[in-house]
Amino acid sequence: MNYRHAFHAGNFADVIKHIVLARILAYLGRKDAAYRVLDTHAGAGLYDLGGEEAQRTGEWESGVGALMDVALPAEVEALIAPWREAVAAVNPGGGLAHYPGSPLVAARLARPQDRLLFCETVAGVREALGAAVKGDGRAKVLPTDGWQALAAYLPPKERRGLVLIDPPFEEGGEFHRLAEALIGAHRRWEGGVLVAWYPIKDIRAVDAFRREVTRAGIPKTLRIEFDLAETRQADRLSGAGLVVVNPPFTLAEEMRTVLQAIGPHLATDGRGRSRIGWLMPER
Ligand SMILES: C[S@@+](CC[C@H](N)C(=O)[O-])C[C@H]1O[C@@H](n2cnc3c(N)ncnc32)[C@H](O)[C@@H]1O
Repeated sequence: MNYRHAFHAGNFADVIKHIVLARILAYLGRKDAAYRVLDTHAGAGLYDLGGEEAQRTGEWESGVGALMDVALPAEVEALIAPWREAVAAVNPGGGLAHYPGSPLVAARLARPQDRLLFCETVAGVREALGAAVKGDGRAKVLPTDGWQALAAYLPPKERRGLVLIDPPFEEGGEFHRLAEALIGAHRRWEGGVLVAWYPIKDIRAVDAFRREVTRAGIPKTLRIEFDLAETRQADRLSGAGLVVVNPPFTLAEEMRTVLQAIGPHLATDGRGRSRIGWLMPER
């Protein structure tokens, strides 16, 4: 196991994933009732963009870095404001020295009544995450295998909330595993908002994943994909996608607006391409 998210923190895929996460939590936060977040592959929580790993790839520069000083339409700024707040919160001196991982995006948006469960199996990364959420009584960091956590912790007692499944994709069969995990999680918790992240590199694997999820017949499953350029380069990370089960009814339209505005800033060809649509017709 040698995946280290620090190399990729704040890249285009992180930015889109975390904007989606922030939009969903902003929506869940409209009702007073508590919600639960289960982040099955949580990572370190906080990333130093001046650190060796981030500097070595520089991926964040064409991700979060590309959105720092751009003037986006007011409507788009309003939609990404929760994500911007999470980024600003880890940069108290202004500028962009750090980037928040999914746990800190969630912790920023969660209210006192909400509960956060973070699974991370790599000890050093888990220690960093523990330090990043230290003193936050709402958050629990667990050494539990994220795939097993889906069986152990769903449905949560709050009966509302979100699961993020964001595995490293460093082993074969990860797409099938992700599809099975999503389908199993939905079986256990029909009403939960389930978010699964995947890379767009091996397009046949992506298609097979989409077919497997679609065949399961889960209603209300949204696909949000972004390609870095209109023309894909084979065998290179050319984009990233998210499947969202039970998204807030506003999410598809919101993300269309957001990606139309931020896509050209993240793209390698100045345009990029996004696809947002239902895997099954809405019931
Ligand atoms: C893609 S990163 C997570 C990024 C994070 N969700 C974010 O958005 O900031 C995947 C993480 O999963 C961890 N990991 C790998 N296998 C795991 C498993 N079976 N259960 C839980 N965590 C795992 C890795 O150590 C890595 O930190």
